[in-house]
Amino acid sequence: MKLCIIGCGYVGLVSATCFADLGNQVICVDNDYDKIENLKLGIIPFYEPGLRELVTKNYDANRLKFSTELNNSIKKTDIVFICVGTPTKKNSFEADISQVMKLIKKMSSSINKFKIIVTKSTVPIITGDRIEKILSKKVNKKNFSVVSNPEFLREGEAIRDFIYPDRIVVGTNHNRTNKILKKLYGPLISKGANYLQTSRRAAELIKYVSNAFLATKIAFINEISNLCEMTDVKIDDISLGIGLDKRIGQRFLRPGPGYGGSCFPKDTKALLSIAKKFDINLSIIKSVVKSNEDRPDLILKKIFKILNYKIHNKKICFLGVTFKANTDDMRDSICLKLIPALIKKGALIKYYDPTGYKKEFKNYKNVSFSKNINSALEYSDLIIVHTEWNEFKSLNFKQFKSKKLVIFDLKNIYSQNLMTNQNFKYYSVGR
Ligand code: UDX
Repeated sequence: MKLCIIGCGYVGLVSATCFADLGNQVICVDNDYDKIENLKLGIIPFYEPGLRELVTKNYDANRLKFSTELNNSIKKTDIVFICVGTPTKKNSFEADISQVMKLIKKMSSSINKFKIIVTKSTVPIITGDRIEKILSKKVNKKNFSVVSNPEFLREGEAIRDFIYPDRIVVGTNHNRTNKILKKLYGPLISKGANYLQTSRRAAELIKYVSNAFLATKIAFINEISNLCEMTDVKIDDISLGIGLDKRIGQRFLRPGPGYGGSCFPKDTKALLSIAKKFDINLSIIKSVVKSNEDRPDLILKKIFKILNYKIHNKKICFLGVTFKANTDDMRDSICLKLIPALIKKGALIKYYDPTGYKKEFKNYKNVSFSKNINSALEYSDLIIVHTEWNEFKSLNFKQFKSKKLVIFDLKNIYSQNLMTNQNFKYYSVGR
């Protein structure tokens, strides 16, 4: 099939590349000229395992093209996927859908034959209705169909998640459209993916509710981990003990510094904002947002205690600063709250991250990037494990025998017994 994917960000580029790999003809459009020229050279704007190889393979095979030309690209294709950003509005919880709306206004002149317009960007409920209304002012209703088809890709696992999704949600009441999209996703359905056709509004809401539910699981286990610490119970036992109940499930019960990233913080807030418009009180989600926002303060208190409340001139090493492992994404990373607060108290921060230097810290005098993990560790009063990269899991701490390391493992990646047996001062979460 002929597809046009608008927006070469995370969702757009992964979807475009995977659709091309399934044998479709895909044009990927972005208004950032440099990004498009780089993509033609195989330079990917973010880190995602396996993506570069797949982009190059499909670009070389002529199935994947890159362009800055919106209208021509739309004219040449049958299905248009909108994959532009929908960040949180400034000083509000509401999702900013202005990029989506601008695009819709621009594209109406290019709808020269029947086209399916799909929102893959996460958009609030009723956005599809609004898009349809705008388009129908300029285009005959027979010539287009607006669909919601949310993505559920995890960063770092996006290609696998695309090829083996738990479910594909397609929000449309239009039979012809549903048939076409079912055919597009046919290769994934035949590998076992569930295909769920719903109303457009339901599809829009499913995305938000999925993320809100997962965020709830994390906030829940984080709070329970606080109780475990006070009662000498290991959170690992609790996660396993409740997770083996099939109604609960074992995933997303790992405690940590709080959830971050490009989706959970933004989507939980957007869901609250949507509910408010309909005069509905989502009190549970409200508590989840608050619980996650309070969490960095709690972690900071523990850090102060570990350092005996003497923070000034203390050398603190962060292992990993992105919001989670296997990504270079800094969006809503919890350490963006932890590091400035520690600096304010006079700490000297060194960080090592497998994805390199981060511009987010360039204005902080006392934050430096270390290219060498060992030297970062050696000269630290406290090591904070912030993400769960395999590289950190396999670290050989024995080489620092001469020094009694103090480690605060925010991701519980090490065995408590092993660490204390090696005579380190080892702290983790909920155990
Ligand atoms: C998430 C959703 O999983 C995905 O379906 C959606 O489309 C986009 O948002 P992503 O943000 O890439 O994906 O990461 P995910 O692996 O879901 O983790 C989100 C945050 O929760 C991270 O900060 C992670 O460290 C944290 N987390 C996750 C926990 O603290 N504990 C867990 O058990 C799982």
